[in-house]
Amino acid sequence: MADENKNGGSGAPSGNGKNGGKVGILEKVSTTVKEDVQALKTDIPTKAKEQIDGLKDPTKTQVYTSIFRHKHDDTPRNRALGVLSNVFLHLHPAKINRDAVRYSYTWGMGGITFYLFIILTYTGVLLMFYYHPSKVQAFRDVLYLEHDVPFGKILRNMHRWAAHLMVIGVWLHMFRVFLTGSYKKPREFNWNIGVLLLVFTLLLSFTGYLLPDDQLGFWAVTVGTNMARATPMLGHEGPFGPQLGMTPYNDVRFGLLGGSIVDANALLRSYIWHCIGIPIVASVLMIVHFWRVRKDGGISGPAPVVLQEEADKPRRGPKAAGE
Ligand code: HEM
Repeated sequence: MADENKNGGSGAPSGNGKNGGKVGILEKVSTTVKEDVQALKTDIPTKAKEQIDGLKDPTKTQVYTSIFRHKHDDTPRNRALGVLSNVFLHLHPAKINRDAVRYSYTWGMGGITFYLFIILTYTGVLLMFYYHPSKVQAFRDVLYLEHDVPFGKILRNMHRWAAHLMVIGVWLHMFRVFLTGSYKKPREFNWNIGVLLLVFTLLLSFTGYLLPDDQLGFWAVTVGTNMARATPMLGHEGPFGPQLGMTPYNDVRFGLLGGSIVDANALLRSYIWHCIGIPIVASVLMIVHFWRVRKDGGISGPAPVVLQEEADKPRRGPKAAGE
């Protein structure tokens, strides 16, 4: 019986004789081959399926891995590498303070203000396709946009509403920065950049107001620029202005309007400041502003909160031993 088992339990004569041995080996080989064929029958389809699935998964293709160098699985190292090796994501820090980005802390207001600026730039460029900054055309172009241009009304209103919201957003952002004391060391410089951004946001709004060339804009700009008469030293009605030779025809108001009244030159100047000058300066300031947020150690944030599971973890190092 023992021999039978050794020979594969075939019941053939055991390997004492020459022929008996051969038969035993042949049977062994055939069984192994049978087993292998059986295994291949089940393995090949499984492996083929795995490979097809792999091809179906775009993250496994060579094209994908040539662009994205790192896996997106949830390890801290891969997450950091994923951020650092992407041109857009690397603008953000790889790690941030969990509490600093809570909506209840920042209100998301800086980001919302920036988002509105992007909307304004986009819709503003589209509006430029229809608008001429001339006394004859300007108001007609606005009517044309409102009534005839496909989606013109929504385009104009998106621009108007985003402008109002950006002004509100920038004030709320400044208010939050003040409430959280984020103007203090080391963020004093960025606060000052912020003040400039506030001024340029208001100037964008003000210069845009004249462009429809309607009564509202005309009188708003008349009143606004009249204030410039009283600028110290630079306005003809301001302190030391007359003594320094300022008249209605050479003072700062004259420079703003391109004349002594709100007319065609004022419209053209508003247009150029509104579409080119101020957006360029504001964009540069925003780049500096965001860069400084990172360089000043990220968003200020309250003291880090320790999660319960983190607090429960056994500590390492000499401090833990002493405790
Ligand atoms: C166009 C206007 C502005 C944009 C787009 C803008 C955008 C941002 C963004 C995205 C942040 C990151 C944190 C957050 O979202 O709250 C930030 C932070 C900051 N902003 Fe502004 N901002 C603007 C105007 C201002 C103004 C008017 C001030 C103050 C006068 C200011 C002062 C600051 C300061 C000090 C920080 C750092 C805050 C912290 O670390 O907690 N920004 N800004």
